Amino acid sequence: MTESSSAHGGTAVIGDRAGAPMVRVENLRRSYGTGAAAVHALRGVSFEIPRGELVALKGRSGSGKTTLLNLVGGLDSPDEGRITVDGIDLSGLGENGLLELRRDRIGFIFQSFGLIPILSAAENVGVPLRLRKADPREREERVQLMLALVGLADHAAQRPGELSGGQQQRVAIARALANRPALLIADEPTGQLDAETGLSVMELLRAVVRSEGVTALVATHDAQLLDLADRVLELRDGEIVEH
Ligand SMILES: Nc1ncnc2c1ncn2[C@@H]1O[C@H](COP(=O)(O)OP(=O)(O)OP(=O)(O)O)[C@@H](O)[C@H]1O
Ligand SMILES: [Mg+2]
Repeated sequence: MTESSSAHGGTAVIGDRAGAPMVRVENLRRSYGTGAAAVHALRGVSFEIPRGELVALKGRSGSGKTTLLNLVGGLDSPDEGRITVDGIDLSGLGENGLLELRRDRIGFIFQSFGLIPILSAAENVGVPLRLRKADPREREERVQLMLALVGLADHAAQRPGELSGGQQQRVAIARALANRPALLIADEPTGQLDAETGLSVMELLRAVVRSEGVTALVATHDAQLLDLADRVLELRDGEIVEH
């Protein structure tokens, strides 16, 4: 194994980052509970996501989508198997390493938006930049740019409760992109939106994956998003179904 330091403060990097796929998952297993009560949520999952692709993850409720996203995003650890994100082997990272990975390289988008109610749209978008201790002027510029990107430049001062569901999810997308992540992970981002609003959020995701050069893994039941994806992965009872 060859290791070298990355620009992000000494995280171990394996091989040639630029040439490697953005995500590589090998024989991933994750169970909850033990013995007869154990739930085998993932039962040997392997796939790769090339850089710059928007990959949709489908599968019925309970098939393991959220479990898989949590593992790829470094929010949870597998029982077995290997995950590399942006050339970084997650099994080699401790809690702090995983925290840095999530902060610096991954943007998360959730079904329930996950915005902070007492902060304005602009302040919410700025949160990841504050965590990274970005220079305040750089932060302000980036926040304005991201709000403009998602079509909310005129709504910067509004709090989440003063925005529509679709607008809130746009703020969440702007926040997820604020730190220029390599990978966007979204768990049913249109699950709480009506069909029309959901489609516009999906189209926005599709557009930002192209314009920001980011890679995205999006769990969805939404047939419209499946059409917009470069590739569709399907989970069935914890296993990938080949298409
Ligand atoms: N923390 C947990 N403890 C015990 N079992 C869990 C836990 N989280 C998930 N599971 C189980 O693991 C399986 C996969 O769940 P997961 O949440 O990954 O499915 P999903 O595909 O995201 O479903 P949905 O479409 O409903 O969100 C399910 O059987 C679920 O009950
Ligand atoms: Mg889920």
